[in-house]
Amino acid sequence: MRKIYVYKKFERFWHWSQAILIIFLALTGFEVHGSFEILGFEHAARYHRTASWMLIVLIIFAIFWHIVTGEWKQYVPTTKKLKEQIMFYAFGMFTGKNHPTKKTEVSKLNPLQRLVYLSFKLFLVPVTILSGIVYMFHKTIDHNNVVVVSKIPLEAVAFWHTLGAFLLVVFLIVHVYMTTTGHTPTSNIKAMITGYEDMEDEEDDNTSEKDETIGKLKKQKS
Ligand code: HEM
Repeated sequence: MRKIYVYKKFERFWHWSQAILIIFLALTGFEVHGSFEILGFEHAARYHRTASWMLIVLIIFAIFWHIVTGEWKQYVPTTKKLKEQIMFYAFGMFTGKNHPTKKTEVSKLNPLQRLVYLSFKLFLVPVTILSGIVYMFHKTIDHNNVVVVSKIPLEAVAFWHTLGAFLLVVFLIVHVYMTTTGHTPTSNIKAMITGYEDMEDEEDDNTSEKDETIGKLKKQKS
């Protein structure tokens, strides 16, 4: 076994703060929605708005970090080994098969994760945040006495925001389950806390690809 450094300091900070904020926003949001009562409507609505600004600031920093570090490249989608990865999650992992893709510092997401996280970042989060911002400023009066966002019906705004919220909760549940499908049930979570992940040597150094190359070289020689 050897350790590889997969998640950098800012990435871990951003990941856990985003997780806490989304859980808090889901709790306060569904209280505003009327699903249950813990804090009371007024408090829930106020905390929801404060946490939403914190999430917006965090996401602006995260976008900046992804651009300057080039980490955005990790999310470029690919179909290479996508089918194998889906088959692994559907059947292979229950029958003791090895992961079809290898995690490295420069490629830490498998093809399915790339697709799912990219959709999360490009569709799910923007729909929830944008509808939340429109919700916040719906029919408010600005300093020039102009009514802000008056054309979009509030029902439509609430629909998109609640849909985004439901999908985020579904994402969260599936995401937490998927984190337990690493080498050991806790290895992925530990990596997101410490930054380091234990990799089996054999799995980390592309043994099968090396074997193939050696085979080809031997054929060429003979
Ligand atoms: C930056 C992001 C967000 C903004 C700006 C935002 C804003 C808002 C606003 C203004 C409201 C109306 C209640 C109020 O006046 O305080 C609301 C309601 C709600 N929010 Fe958010 N929110 C955000 C993120 C989230 C997230 C991440 C979730 C859940 C995962 C969520 C779930 C909800 C729910 C369920 C409601 C009730 C909707 C309804 O019944 O009409 N929100 N949000």
